[in-house]
Amino acid sequence: MKISVIGCGYLGAVHAASMAKLGHEVVGIDVDAGKVAALNAGTPPFYEPGLRAVLAAARKRGSLTFSTDIADVAGAVVHFVAVGTPQRKDSDAADLHYVDAAFEALLPHLRSGDLVVGKSTVPVGTASRLDLLLRSAVPEASLAWNPEFLREGFAVKDTVAPDRLVYGVPGGNHGDRAVALLDEIYANALARKTPRLVVDFATAELVKVAANAFLATKISFINAMAEVAEATGADVTLLADAIGYDRRIGRKFLNSGLGFGGGCLPKDIRAFRAHAEELGVGDSVAFLGEVDAINLRCRDRMVDLTFDALGGDVRGKRVAILGLAFKPKSDDVRDAPALAVAARLMAAGAIVVATDPAALETARLVLPELQLVASAGEAVTGADVVLLLTEWKEYRHLAPSALDTVASRSILDGRNCLPREVWEGAGWRYRSLGRP
Ligand code: UGA
Repeated sequence: MKISVIGCGYLGAVHAASMAKLGHEVVGIDVDAGKVAALNAGTPPFYEPGLRAVLAAARKRGSLTFSTDIADVAGAVVHFVAVGTPQRKDSDAADLHYVDAAFEALLPHLRSGDLVVGKSTVPVGTASRLDLLLRSAVPEASLAWNPEFLREGFAVKDTVAPDRLVYGVPGGNHGDRAVALLDEIYANALARKTPRLVVDFATAELVKVAANAFLATKISFINAMAEVAEATGADVTLLADAIGYDRRIGRKFLNSGLGFGGGCLPKDIRAFRAHAEELGVGDSVAFLGEVDAINLRCRDRMVDLTFDALGGDVRGKRVAILGLAFKPKSDDVRDAPALAVAARLMAAGAIVVATDPAALETARLVLPELQLVASAGEAVTGADVVLLLTEWKEYRHLAPSALDTVASRSILDGRNCLPREVWEGAGWRYRSLGRP
């Protein structure tokens, strides 16, 4: 099928490439000429394992192009809108202006029978509003809302083989046609019996924010338990293992430490809360304010632990940070807990030297005054304390002897991911959040 994808950020670029991988003919549209040029040259504009290979294969087949000209959607039958919905600068609500701009730009190029598919994370009610707009401009065009659940670091896999498909569609013929077209696009996944839920617009929009709110709550739950563990002498990692064996609870997303960041969970729970208040059901999700607060406290606790490890005064002390990205396998530093900790320690007078396998460039743009080095070995040389803040595999598997150039053998495990006995056995002082 001929498909267009409007917006080629993390979501759109991966979606465009993955749709081409599934055999469709795809054009990706973005207003950023640099991004379009990079994608056309087969270079992902961000770090995402597997994306380069998918881009290369699609380019070889000639089934994937990128353009800054919206008129190039001509000929496509299905148009995915995958632009960002960041947090507004003046409030917690979602900023919908990229979504509105994408629809406005797309409308003049739509033909009767085309299907527009929203993938962006939006407040409930957005799809109905856009559906009216679409139908008044192009009567026989239809809208569907098809939320995306991909995780950065596994984005291609999650798009090509999702764990479920959710189609939000209007009633009647428009809905039937939308379902038929989406089934054709996702034929591969459906053949593997991927669960497919056909729902109304509001449910589809809510599924996405509810899923992210649940994940954020699960992480904050275990980090709240970490606070209690600290006050009681319990070990939060053993607690997580023990409750995680209960299949109703499950061990996933119970990794305690520095908490969640990134371009999705933090802004989505805030936007959800803001929108619920507008709808008069603010009380129903007021707990998300607490989820946010617990999460932000993790950063304070990490800073406090560093102060403690350095005898209460960080001024002039050398702090090595391993990991800056908001999670491993990503170069994304949007709302990254590690960068927040680095900034606070610098503001308190510490000499902070940081490294990351993928996020040096992105971190430099956000915190230019942070001293960045290429390797863990360089970062820790002369350090008074080492902070592991993103659990990249290469850090989890570090041998203590690899960091022997430190000034003081003191390591703070911000992700509860190091084998404590190995580090203590090698003469290191090991400390982490939520463990005695
Ligand atoms: C999240 C959701 O997991 C995806 O399903 C969703 O599609 C995506 O947002 C989105 O809305 O686009 P992502 O932001 O890529 O995906 O990252 P996650 O894997 O969810 O991790 C989020 C944060 O939680 C990271 O900072 C990670 O370090 C932290 N985390 C995760 C924990 O602190 N503990 C855990 O046990 C798991």
